[in-house]
Amino acid sequence: MRLDVIFSPGDLAPAQIQGRTAFVIDILRATTAMCAALHHGAKAIIPVASTEEALRLAQTIGSTDVLLAGEKNCLRIPGFHLGNSPLEMTEGAVRGKTIIVTTTNGTKALLACQGSAAVYGACAANLGVSAEKARETLDRDGKLLIVCAGRDGAFSLDDAYCAGRLAEAALGGLKPRRGLNDAAIASLDLVRRYGENWERPLRSSRAGRELIKLGFQDDVLDASRLDAYPVLAHFHERRVTLAPVPV
Ligand code: MLT
Repeated sequence: MRLDVIFSPGDLAPAQIQGRTAFVIDILRATTAMCAALHHGAKAIIPVASTEEALRLAQTIGSTDVLLAGEKNCLRIPGFHLGNSPLEMTEGAVRGKTIIVTTTNGTKALLACQGSAAVYGACAANLGVSAEKARETLDRDGKLLIVCAGRDGAFSLDDAYCAGRLAEAALGGLKPRRGLNDAAIASLDLVRRYGENWERPLRSSRAGRELIKLGFQDDVLDASRLDAYPVLAHFHERRVTLAPVPV
């Protein structure tokens, strides 16, 4: 058994991705916003690396069913339809739409995992279904990769706590002595430290504090709601779409 957590996508070695199923976490807020959008009927989400690429792709697709979304420094990008708030991803705004998204860390982390056997987006809002898939993957393949988006190339507490919760659920009560990398051990320790309470690690993290300062405290609360958007977010052929939820 091999369960690796990566605290920032820059730490990923290409060999780590190949043949592995990866779960990407950017709980504040990219993966939470993606799950909210899919839960509310968005057709697909296309993560891209930059504002320019988002504009170019929207022009190429050239459909009124395409929305531009994302953030720079946590704030909405001028001219874009939506920011990066899960609360903006209402049914009225997103149903039937394809959303092109660019964010500071979350979309980069997803793109960094292209080439994995399968990639899913995880957060508190879809922890139940993600954990189910992660458990199934670990049983089948004997290996699992959890990639935190982190913050500006560094560790972030919010993502690492979420990685610990996903790792714990994937292990399903097993306490392996071997097969965990140091980051996996550390993220499981964070779960011991904070317990079941999502709000504490999220609010104490730098991302959480910055979002609260900018007036996005409701986003931090929303991102703390366990299984609020219970969708399996599958990133495949450049798009994030709904994958069937395991029964
Ligand atoms: C990111 O991708 O860095 C975050 O999602 C930023 C944010 O939520 O504002």
